[in-house]
Amino acid sequence: MKRTRIVLASVCIGLAALAVQGAAIAQSEPYKVFDTRPVITEGPYLSALSDTSVSVMWMTDAPSHAKVRLSDGDSAREIEPQVDGLVPVGQRHVVTITGLDPGKRYSYEASATRVVKLKPYWPDKGLSTASAAAAFTTFSPQQDKVSFSVVTDTHEDTARIGRLMKLVDWASADALLHLGDAFHWIDSEEQLWAKWLRPTVAAMGPGKPLLFARGNHELRGAFARQLAGYVPTPEGSYHYGRAMGPVHLLVLDTAEDKPDETNVYAQLNRTVPYREGELAWLRAHAASNSHFSSAPFRVVAMHQGDWGWLPDNGAAWTALANQAGVDLVLAGHDHAFSYQAPGKGHAYHRLVLGQDQLARVDATERTLTVKVVTDKGTPVHTLTIASRR
Ligand SMILES: [Fe+2]
Repeated sequence: MKRTRIVLASVCIGLAALAVQGAAIAQSEPYKVFDTRPVITEGPYLSALSDTSVSVMWMTDAPSHAKVRLSDGDSAREIEPQVDGLVPVGQRHVVTITGLDPGKRYSYEASATRVVKLKPYWPDKGLSTASAAAAFTTFSPQQDKVSFSVVTDTHEDTARIGRLMKLVDWASADALLHLGDAFHWIDSEEQLWAKWLRPTVAAMGPGKPLLFARGNHELRGAFARQLAGYVPTPEGSYHYGRAMGPVHLLVLDTAEDKPDETNVYAQLNRTVPYREGELAWLRAHAASNSHFSSAPFRVVAMHQGDWGWLPDNGAAWTALANQAGVDLVLAGHDHAFSYQAPGKGHAYHRLVLGQDQLARVDATERTLTVKVVTDKGTPVHTLTIASRR
């Protein structure tokens, strides 16, 4: 009813506007529709998939508004974002889908409709374009196994990304996990695509999700504050938990590797209160999340294996991880492989992945295996952990 009323009210003025301005191709709408379609220039790709939600991200060459068409095979729906009641218009598109069923296969299309001129009344529009249909499967707390591949510290080296992506067995991988420092620093949107997301998404395709743990280098540069818009999460934060069958994965943000007062930051960093908030979230999550408490394996994925720079050198984080029964920490940052068994200081396995290495994590209810290989596929290390639960 609402839409009908708006259309009727606008027809008279709309026709007058058409008479003056002419040249629109569609007369059925009370605003001009030009014969122009947006081109999807990047993506779509899936970011931070969970058991019930995912963020779909893509770009168009011209300002457009966007939506995702989603089907589970039986029924279809459209998800259209809004911010403060307005449909976003731009070239960067993020549609977060919630309310999904765990362990279910969905197909989706990313669609964009050109907005030629964003006038206050009867903006000039264009036509729509849509991506090819792609399919994905949500994680499930109940799935009996999970597999994912891990890279880190790719540092803008697209040849390195290409070598590592070729080694991923995409058919059997549920996700790609990047442990941060994809950049030296972030200056622009084009750098973000050219030096990381474009070659990564080309390998990953539209159906496998990217899980990203921010690295210290991602806090630097003029475009660092925009990064979250390109690696969106349904939660809207860089830290989150994922129920992936036998694994409860905690993706954490270890932020910077030096104190906020360090002169190179010119008093523009406030990671202390940020990390306090993240720690409070982790404490509450570990205490209340039913999958965390029941999962055979509790795995932390983060950039710096020592929890990043913290006033207490990470003591509170280590104590919480020990007390919460974290089994494994996967990290990067060092650019070289290392492994520390549970023992002195920490009760969890800690595996630091090297820069030109790929890790493959496979977990069942009984066993979790991490196989690390070089970018040539040469074995580096295999870690096997039995469930303690
Ligand atoms: Fe780093």
